[in-house]
Amino acid sequence: MEKDDLFEELETERLILRKVVDEDAEMLYQNIYNNFDYFKYYYQLPFDSFESYKPLVEKYKEWYANGNHFRWGVVLKETNEIIGLVQLHTKDILNNNCKIGYIISYKYNNRGYGKEAVTKVIDFGFNKLKFHRIDANIVVENEASIKLAESIGMHFESERKDSYKLGENYYNQKVYTIINK
Ligand SMILES: CC(C)(COP(=O)(O)OP(=O)(O)OC[C@H]1O[C@@H](n2cnc3c(N)ncnc32)[C@H](O)[C@@H]1OP(=O)(O)O)[C@@H](O)C(=O)NCCC(=O)NCCS
Repeated sequence: MEKDDLFEELETERLILRKVVDEDAEMLYQNIYNNFDYFKYYYQLPFDSFESYKPLVEKYKEWYANGNHFRWGVVLKETNEIIGLVQLHTKDILNNNCKIGYIISYKYNNRGYGKEAVTKVIDFGFNKLKFHRIDANIVVENEASIKLAESIGMHFESERKDSYKLGENYYNQKVYTIINK
């Protein structure tokens, strides 16, 4: 029997959060994945061309088809441009917790889009998916992500030593968490 797919399109004042489709690949590459220095604390592998990046987006289709894959493309209502991604991943169904990841294009940084999108996804995670706890593992050097986590009410809980490998180096990550009380 097929499981219900609980994925839903979401909307905020300025954004639509929807499934990512193959046609988004070019724009995601232009807005995010051509700038490794920007996304290196989000995804460790650089892409040296659009061709090397495209298979990753094509994978999303398979993941969505399996159902309950909670990855949203962040789209600007005004221009219909895809400018970011937010996902709930590493679901621990027995304990009702999961992790969150997010990225907003360097071209649109610091305009409140990250906060707007992540707030909505956390609300959906708590109220529709019934998660009790959502964590973000954030590289200590990632000031923008720490600011975003704090600004939406996540709390610093602990530090994981050498938990993120980038090239030949290991970085510590801070665990930020939010609990649905
Ligand atoms: C982290 C990220 C998603 C923030 O997105 P954003 O849309 O720029 O964030 P917002 O504009 O909503 O800002 C949220 C808060 O972070 C602060 N902030 C945003 N960019 C910042 C920066 N470069 N340096 C310091 N603080 C920053 C804002 O001032 C705001 O704080 P406030 O609410 O106290 O005023 C974005 O920088 C990003 O995609 N970084 C690369 C990918 C990444 O590292 N993802 C996280 C992996 S754990």
